[in-house]
Amino acid sequence: MDTKKLLGDEAAKYVEDNMIVGLGSGTTVNHLVRALGERIKEGLQIKAVSSSEKTCKLAKEVGIPLIDINMVEQIDLTIDGANEIERNTLFAIKGGGGSLLYEKIMTLHSKEVIWIVDEEKIVHQLGKFRLPVEVIPYGCHKLFRMFFEKQYKPVLRKNKDGLFVTDSGHWIIDLHLEKIDHPKKLADWLKSLTGVVEHGLFLQCVDRVLVGNNDQIKVFE
Ligand code: 5RP
Repeated sequence: MDTKKLLGDEAAKYVEDNMIVGLGSGTTVNHLVRALGERIKEGLQIKAVSSSEKTCKLAKEVGIPLIDINMVEQIDLTIDGANEIERNTLFAIKGGGGSLLYEKIMTLHSKEVIWIVDEEKIVHQLGKFRLPVEVIPYGCHKLFRMFFEKQYKPVLRKNKDGLFVTDSGHWIIDLHLEKIDHPKKLADWLKSLTGVVEHGLFLQCVDRVLVGNNDQIKVFE
């Protein structure tokens, strides 16, 4: 079986009646969304908050009732993907799909957070995957130059239509760091920069990681 589908199906089992569920973004989460759609047809009663327009669209297609995050006191359980997870700390890089800002807001509003990933995303040290930094377009070339001078190899994210624009209208500068020795220090520094809206370092914010390898799933806590 496709590992991503297995992860989506397995994660859907953590969802219980009457929960407010946070839906992350990405190809692995898409399987979760479809699995929840199936469970809803069988009678599961939930409401969901979505972290991206793409997830919203799929959730609507499969019949998941969506609710505005501003209308909920707290999300019971958020299930999301990740791009790289450090084995010892469960620190992660997220935002490969560009939804890091909404994903982080959702995560911070959640009682419980589960990530679902292929085993190849579990690493000894973060940094091989590009680190997304979401920025306000106004004046962001100054940030770009600062990252360049620090030899962070910044690249303004583009897609086939041109410049990549996030769901909230921002741009993304991807940093190519190769290794991140001090994730907390880097996260604090990025947050301190005017014009940076959010970064893709997700530190100390997950309760459980479901790790898939072919047809097996391990749970890291
Ligand atoms: C999007 C994300 C995704 O969770 C991450 O990119 C993983 O996606 P996929 O399951 O497609 O590998 O952080 O912003």
